[in-house]
Amino acid sequence: MIFTNLLPLTGLLTLALPLIRAQNDSFIPFDVFLQGVQDATYAEWNATAVESSDAFDEIQAHILSMYNGIGDISNTFVLGVEYADCVDIDKQPTVRLLGVDNIQTPPSNTSYPRSKGEGHVSNYAESPLKLNLTDRFGNHISCPEETIPFARLTLQKLTRFPNLRAFFDKPPPAIPTQPSRLNQRELLRRGGEPHLHAEGYEYVKNFGGNSWLNLWNPVGDFSLSQQWYVGGSGAHLQTVEGGWVNYEQKFHTRQSVLFIFYTPDNYSSGCWNMDCPGFVQTNNNWFLGAIWDHYSVSGGEQWGFEMQWKMYQGTWYLFLKGPGNYELVGHYPPGIFGTGQLTKNAELIEYGGEVTRFDPSHKWPQMGSGAFPSAGWTKAAFQKSIFYIPKDENGGVGIWTSLFPFVEGSKNCWDVALTPWQKGGNWGSYLYFGGPGGNVCG
Ligand SMILES: *[C@@H]1O[C@H](CO)[C@@H](O)[C@H](O)[C@H]1NC(C)=O
Ligand SMILES: *[C@@H]1O[C@H](CO)[C@@H](O)[C@H](O)[C@H]1NC(C)=O
Ligand SMILES: *[C@@H]1O[C@H](CO)[C@@H](O)[C@H](O)[C@H]1NC(C)=O
Ligand SMILES: *[C@@H]1O[C@H](CO)[C@@H](O)[C@H](O)[C@H]1NC(C)=O
Ligand SMILES: *[C@@H]1O[C@H](CO)[C@@H](O)[C@H](O)[C@H]1NC(C)=O
Repeated sequence: MIFTNLLPLTGLLTLALPLIRAQNDSFIPFDVFLQGVQDATYAEWNATAVESSDAFDEIQAHILSMYNGIGDISNTFVLGVEYADCVDIDKQPTVRLLGVDNIQTPPSNTSYPRSKGEGHVSNYAESPLKLNLTDRFGNHISCPEETIPFARLTLQKLTRFPNLRAFFDKPPPAIPTQPSRLNQRELLRRGGEPHLHAEGYEYVKNFGGNSWLNLWNPVGDFSLSQQWYVGGSGAHLQTVEGGWVNYEQKFHTRQSVLFIFYTPDNYSSGCWNMDCPGFVQTNNNWFLGAIWDHYSVSGGEQWGFEMQWKMYQGTWYLFLKGPGNYELVGHYPPGIFGTGQLTKNAELIEYGGEVTRFDPSHKWPQMGSGAFPSAGWTKAAFQKSIFYIPKDENGGVGIWTSLFPFVEGSKNCWDVALTPWQKGGNWGSYLYFGGPGGNVCG
């Protein structure tokens, strides 16, 4: 795998809205982009990470199939380094390629369980598409109603990986053995550099769940904060996931971006965001793969957002919440999980951080904010308001999680600290997680 040098990040953590950068590049209209993909040959791209001519052909064919029949693009804008093309909801790749026709009436979000007491106040980051911004080329940073922002699938992006599957891939979740013990060596033997977690988990029948994730820009190859909803096992393991990830190789930015992920078959297929057919987006205001308008500041303001996954009548719905109400963003249609466990319910929930490094010569990344959980409020990364959804119902009320801690790797590198809802005040069930990483962590 190739990996570009990290920019020194000192002082960058407080950077809000670096949307309009002084860059001497030119705007690439949609038609020009697509023609470029059509005309491309392996000979022009053989100095990239792509492993073979066949792998290049597969990448090129995938991009072209994702856009074949996409219709008119009503607006294109650039947010940070990411191009968004506004495509009609009914012409987006999942709808065309999986033949999703009738989209059933979605449910309302699930409400918080009751809590009492107080808690620190943090700020909701807003989707930049709602801020009436203009990009450096003069394009409005928004998509009209009935369209969605689709992150442009460029050859530059995909050829940073040896093949198409590597571009789609995300590592498996930690699978703690029930109820609370695991064979850590077994996990570390899984080949390559392991993906290491510090998180809270609970085995419980659920229809999704909720958490408020605070936003940071940790330094390193790959570092995230997320939720996992897991069902099935072995080759039939299925997940729905989401949160923020700092992953420059894939997203070409040192800032953390919003992501979702799913797999129907133990990570043999499935992908991030809308990189392959899977997710159907129905909301024009949220941009998967995009940066945020604010990140938390160590010792200062804390920023974040709320994510809720809710399975209702076989469909997994995504809600996101900034300063306003929960907004329905889209869904994974039931068909993508075949007859698997996630067509019924999930069995395991997990919340917390994950890191990996792509080369043994690299340092293990910071997790969360880079501070240990013991540093606490305004210093350490957290997820709060963590509840699961106990029933297949419209609306309804969640149940606070009762999480177990799970840490892989050295506690000199990262850790997790859980607070049960009974002691969590108005944060309900919550956790602090993370740490500085280092050279010896695995
Ligand atoms: C920007 O790029 C153009 C053409 O590529 C070049 O002529 C110009 O000098 C560049 N400007 C700056 C400030 O680098
Ligand atoms: C890439 O293709 C060009 C043109 O066929 C060739 O000259 C060059 O040697 C190739 N480079 C690599 C690294 O294979
Ligand atoms: C959006 O920004 C433009 C200028 O960039 C301004 O004229 C307009 O009033 C703004 N609209 C809203 C709703 O704030
Ligand atoms: C599921 O995936 C894990 C991790 O990639 C792998 O170790 C395991 O062998 C897979 N199980 C099956 C049954 O395919
Ligand atoms: C959805 O969440 C809001 C909080 O944003 C809550 O007030 C509301 O009751 C929830 N809706 C339903 C139908 O439970």
